[in-house]
Amino acid sequence: QQLQGKPQDWAGKHLLVTAGGTQEDLDPVRYLSNRSSGKMGYALANAASQRGAQVTLLSANVNLPIPTGVKVIPVRTAADLKDQLQQLFPTMDGLLMAAAVSDFRPVQVAEHKLKKTAAGEEMTLRFQQNPDLLKLVAAHKRPDQVVVGFAAETHDWRQNALHKLAAKQADYIVLNDVSNPAIGFNSDDNQVTIFGADGFQEQTPIETKAAIADHILTVINPKDR
Ligand code: CTP
Ligand code: CA
Repeated sequence: QQLQGKPQDWAGKHLLVTAGGTQEDLDPVRYLSNRSSGKMGYALANAASQRGAQVTLLSANVNLPIPTGVKVIPVRTAADLKDQLQQLFPTMDGLLMAAAVSDFRPVQVAEHKLKKTAAGEEMTLRFQQNPDLLKLVAAHKRPDQVVVGFAAETHDWRQNALHKLAAKQADYIVLNDVSNPAIGFNSDDNQVTIFGADGFQEQTPIETKAAIADHILTVINPKDR
């Protein structure tokens, strides 16, 4: 059932949302990851569902309640996420790429648990880049699909966000200032600036991630612009 008062402006649309942070294995018991909580992606999935969208959520290592009415597909690594995105994106009306994808993965995953060697000895790991998943799928975007990326930045915010908007061929980039601990990552509140490929630009107030999610869904909905 639909929640009271929410506009049904996403009815009939199927949105793909990614959330959380991917893990990259070092050995059978260890991985490299990041501090993404998944809260922003879950808030987006929840808000989109409440506004009538059919929502599929690719959830990377998130420990949050599943939003009502949302289909959750768990993924662990960037490779898992890539497989699901490539399979599902063509069937979608839009993608909200809120997941923090590991930029690097170990050059090789050790078959056995890595052992300490001599006492006090340093250890070095080598990493290779993961593919840019957003760029990969946005390159095959149809005109009827909306693609929204996120940019986590600690400095040169605007310049970096505009660069990502162009480089990834996204329709929108949602800029997060991750240098401010009061907002972003594990916080319940956030403040973002939304940049559109059409020149659209808007900064939200500091507000709950639920309110930010509603804001983003209004801006990116072709019906509302
Ligand atoms: N992203 C992705 N695949 C990657 C890395 C990032 O799809 N391998 C997506 C993220 O989900 C996000 C957007 O790209 O929507 C921006 O992620 P961000 O980490 O801010 O930017 P990067 O392009 O990875 O650049 P950098 O980390 O060097 O700033
Ligand atoms: Ca990155």
